[in-house]
Amino acid sequence: MPQHRRTGWLTQPPAPVLLLTLLTLFLSTCPAIAWRPWPDLKHNTSDLLGDNKKFEGSSEFVKLRYHMGPVLTANITVHTIWYGTWQPAQKKIIREFINSISAVGSKRPSVAGWWKTVQLYTDQTGANISRTVRLGAEKNDRFYSHGKTLTRLSIQSVIKSAVTTKTRPLPVNPQSGLYLVLTSDDVYVQDFCKQVCGFHYFTFPALVGYTLPYAWIGNSAKLCPGTCAYPFAVPDYIPGLKPLKSPNGDVAVDGMISVIAHEIAELASNPLVNAWYAGQDPSFPVEIADLCEGIYGTGGGGSYTGQLLDDHDGATYNMNGIRRKFLVQWVWSHILNYCTGPNALDQ
Ligand SMILES: *[C@@H]1O[C@H](CO)[C@@H](O)[C@H](O)[C@H]1NC(C)=O
Ligand SMILES: *[C@@H]1O[C@H](CO)[C@@H](O)[C@H](O)[C@H]1NC(C)=O
Ligand SMILES: *[C@@H]1O[C@H](CO)[C@@H](O)[C@H](O)[C@H]1NC(C)=O
Repeated sequence: MPQHRRTGWLTQPPAPVLLLTLLTLFLSTCPAIAWRPWPDLKHNTSDLLGDNKKFEGSSEFVKLRYHMGPVLTANITVHTIWYGTWQPAQKKIIREFINSISAVGSKRPSVAGWWKTVQLYTDQTGANISRTVRLGAEKNDRFYSHGKTLTRLSIQSVIKSAVTTKTRPLPVNPQSGLYLVLTSDDVYVQDFCKQVCGFHYFTFPALVGYTLPYAWIGNSAKLCPGTCAYPFAVPDYIPGLKPLKSPNGDVAVDGMISVIAHEIAELASNPLVNAWYAGQDPSFPVEIADLCEGIYGTGGGGSYTGQLLDDHDGATYNMNGIRRKFLVQWVWSHILNYCTGPNALDQ
């Protein structure tokens, strides 16, 4: 989802501001990809999606196109950087979600079934996105190496530290590695909560030494659970709406799961932001998960999540992992031309 809307002069900078433009680009506008699980009611997305009632998000107006860049066709390895203070139980929920993406034998509807829609995307050679997504090496940045307030640029510095540290650096894997910077609930990241619960981009060689696809996702427990852990927490501006019970007993981490899924799906299909996206303006690509923001089940759209499943303990979810249940937003299928997921009732 577009994040910075003040774009006009970025395409044709007057000469005197060129340097400033480059700096500004570098500092703030680059990761144009950002997302929140709850559709922003103030910015009406039905302009983009049309209002076909039959299929979730369906529209003849969505022009998702392939722009010839690479997608992740080799076995994907997800490296995590735990920034700040993380509890073992929280890490476990997130690790088990990532491990569930290509697990065989999870009960249906499954996380692996959700990934099947992502696998439909191909590159120029016709190679599909990899079926295999593995959890890779992990790094703990327990002592907040770059402080408790991070900018987009300092996120890249966090990754640089993790891949260059003397003791057990994260492996450098530009072809099939994804790097997730996960910040604890006491860390503020530029634009967190306002428009953004997470974003993805790639690192700059000048800064990090390599071009690595990465994403940041924040734990919103203290700052904005109503925004970033919806529907397990609800925003103040919707009085009377009751939060749903989360499946793994941690509202903010259960909310992060869908944002992590969103970012991994987009990293796989648009790792260098030149492959699969919709929209007129390449600096504000609308990607395969952006198109299905807030849609978790059949009938979803607007402020309705769609049809979900109830666990016996009253928790709400829409797919099964290896041992746990998760609530994960759907992604766009360019074959069906609408949003879909493993719990779709028309499958
Ligand atoms: C969004 O736009 C659609 C179509 O223009 C309209 O029917 C709907 O009420 C709008 N929703 C909000 C929340 O403004
Ligand atoms: C990719 O993953 C599959 C399934 O786990 C495995 O069988 C295969 O050997 C892997 N390929 C490479 C090149 O690592
Ligand atoms: C690969 O992509 C094509 C085109 O979207 C699709 O028809 C095919 O089913 C995909 N294969 C796998 C294994 O997902």
